[in-house]
Amino acid sequence: MVLLGEVSDVHKDQSKKPIAYVDSLVYGSSAAARELPEFEMAEEPMPSETAYQLVHDELELDGTPALNLASFVTTYMDSAAEKLMMENMNKNAIDYEEYPATVDLQNRCVNMIGRLFNAPTSESEGCVGTSTVGSSEAIILATLAMKRKWQHARKAARKPYDRPNMVMNAAVQVCWEKATRYLEVEERYVYCTQDRYIIDPQEAVDLCDENTIGVCGILGLTYTGEYEDIKTLSDKLDQLEKDKGLDIKIHVDAASGGMVAPFCVPDLEWDFRLPRVVSINTSGHKYGMTYAGIGWALWRSKEYLPEDLIFHVNYLGADQASFTLNFSKSAAQIVGPLTVLIRNGKSGFRAIMQSITETSDYLAAQLEATGRFTIMNPRQGKSLPLVAFRLKGDNHFNEYDVASTLRSRGNWIVPAYTMAPKAESLRLLRVVCRMDFSRSRCNALVRDLVQTLELLDKQSKEAIESHRELNSKHKKSKAKHHHGHESGNKDNNTLQSKTGKTHAVC
Ligand SMILES: Cc1ncc(COP(=O)(O)O)c(C=O)c1O
Repeated sequence: MVLLGEVSDVHKDQSKKPIAYVDSLVYGSSAAARELPEFEMAEEPMPSETAYQLVHDELELDGTPALNLASFVTTYMDSAAEKLMMENMNKNAIDYEEYPATVDLQNRCVNMIGRLFNAPTSESEGCVGTSTVGSSEAIILATLAMKRKWQHARKAARKPYDRPNMVMNAAVQVCWEKATRYLEVEERYVYCTQDRYIIDPQEAVDLCDENTIGVCGILGLTYTGEYEDIKTLSDKLDQLEKDKGLDIKIHVDAASGGMVAPFCVPDLEWDFRLPRVVSINTSGHKYGMTYAGIGWALWRSKEYLPEDLIFHVNYLGADQASFTLNFSKSAAQIVGPLTVLIRNGKSGFRAIMQSITETSDYLAAQLEATGRFTIMNPRQGKSLPLVAFRLKGDNHFNEYDVASTLRSRGNWIVPAYTMAPKAESLRLLRVVCRMDFSRSRCNALVRDLVQTLELLDKQSKEAIESHRELNSKHKKSKAKHHHGHESGNKDNNTLQSKTGKTHAVC
């Protein structure tokens, strides 16, 4: 008889014997028994199903994309579009000679989006633009084009051309800091205030001088989804030209708003209808409704894309212009957005954008009805379909506590962050409404948010603080594990290190 707590002989013997792994199985194979390699590639291969399952299992630790309300990036495409993307994954879009049909699809997208943004073209003339990996690449290219054009003009006028600057809101997305730093352009920031987060057009114009290569206007602020007043900015720059002879153009960062505003607020003048707007970027993978990896850069005309930035590739005897930063990318990133454009048409886009705008207004009303939150973005299509909100009054917990408690309740990913520099004492939460954020999902979120508040109300300040501390320790140790050091910006040139700016997730 074996007494409880005693190890039987049978057990002892078995533990000594080496396990006879069966490599035709997934679990039970020697590969599954080992840790997945972290630093050094294993010497031996493993069956592909085992590799699939083990990687799949690792990825189960990720959040659920559909519940990730932090991100603008598309988490749903219909199965026909997905199928087409999969079928074209193995084509390199840059091989113009081998894949002329893909090139043609890219040109169609550029033309359709350019016309949506009112590019001044005739039927016979194509729009000037290119696909990019996202808005970041498009913004770097557009900044480069502005810098190069300014340099050419300065050289021709025999004036110094070594101190270019660009004027923008300090609430720009991090890619603007990349663009200006990589291209050695001084950033001139218009700062937010406690109650104004979009650019003040007059302050922007006041920062301009003969070294200004352009002003950036944002259609859909990452923090609050607001649309900057690009028309007023343009009018004020017209006045500057009249007063001082400085002809300064606008680039519109329409990463998110580019595929929303034309359908929700078609009369809003923000695009090529304004002669001062010379380039625009938009992300195909945000409200362009395609999976990650696609953006668009568009120019008003060839005049604003200096010829010396263009590389010419011959395809089937015809000249194809290339002006991207990277070379190879999958044709899936061209096929996907084209399919979405033709599948939905303008009325489909209108229906989707208006309906998610309604959902975001509904969510804002529900949150307001709790009496606990202040809504920070305008409604009825006057901003992106999202809700940016903060806690009202005095509470013994803050927006970060709401975000982390909500995460542990229903797996919701709703980020909390501080507002841009000079308004950083404001903390906010943001829910991005994408097309797969249905009304019933919205109701479930409100229910969980209300329960989160009830829970936090009942917890003591000390308990909340100790939970906060635990969370921060956990994050630090995770960062150390993954990167070998604690995260944190050691560079003292960024807005983050100078002002503590947190880059809102996208
Ligand atoms: C206003 C704005 N500009 C640029 C970007 C960068 O876009 P992408 O992720 O497509 O590079 C974002 C991302 O959220 C954004 O919100």
